[in-house]
Amino acid sequence: MDPLKIDSNEWKNLENVLEEMIPRYDNINSRMTFGMDKKWREILANESSNKDIAVEIGSGPGTLAMMLKSGKIFCVDPSEEMNQIAKKRIGQAGIPLQKFEFITAPAEKIPLDDNVADFVCCAFAFRDFYDKKKALTEICRILKNNGKFMILDIAKHNNLYGTLIYNYIKHITPVITSSDAPKMLAKTYNAFGTPEYYADIMKETGFKNVKIGFLNLKTIFVLSAEKI
Ligand SMILES: C[S@@+](CC[C@H](N)C(=O)[O-])C[C@H]1O[C@@H](n2cnc3c(N)ncnc32)[C@H](O)[C@@H]1O
Repeated sequence: MDPLKIDSNEWKNLENVLEEMIPRYDNINSRMTFGMDKKWREILANESSNKDIAVEIGSGPGTLAMMLKSGKIFCVDPSEEMNQIAKKRIGQAGIPLQKFEFITAPAEKIPLDDNVADFVCCAFAFRDFYDKKKALTEICRILKNNGKFMILDIAKHNNLYGTLIYNYIKHITPVITSSDAPKMLAKTYNAFGTPEYYADIMKETGFKNVKIGFLNLKTIFVLSAEKI
């Protein structure tokens, strides 16, 4: 079990907050990031272009899922409500729904066979996983050999810079988004580990070529790895 996590009551509370955010999800994300979040998701979407089978874990209302370019896309999220909304939004966007499969399950117990995915990705969701070590073991299991895994999320820093990011999320983003939801995101940021911490767990879990990249003055990270 990874010690860096929120407790189970807080996790349930987080899920409620995320579900309440659904009608304004993209708007809040865009305001918090000054419109940059779409460009960041494109990094993952572009990576999926030459991968047959993609699995997005923590796919939420489908914001990244509808940008993925793989021929077959599994959207995995523990919230049935999120999956329903994602399905609706993808359909409304005119994207063929046949290539999507929606699975209501957590990252810690993914109901997919071993070695099925060419690409697994998480965008602004890894931070929310209840047991990240278990989730990484599951992701490694479902990836094919030489398959690729990418995480996009807010970068935790255990220093003054991290405190500044925490305060930005907790105190500034509720004002610029006119929403209290980001306050819950501040809690998950607080309980989050650094990208280096998860890179080490990934190496122990059996991933190779683990690389960390930073975006936007190191406030955002992209962690990429392949399965041995
Ligand atoms: C902030 S949303 C991210 C949505 C989407 N990936 C995007 O690009 O915006 C985080 C999602 O992670 C999901 N989540 C939370 N805990 C999870 C877990 N243990 N396993 C998988 N997904 C989880 C939530 O239900 C939520 O839909």
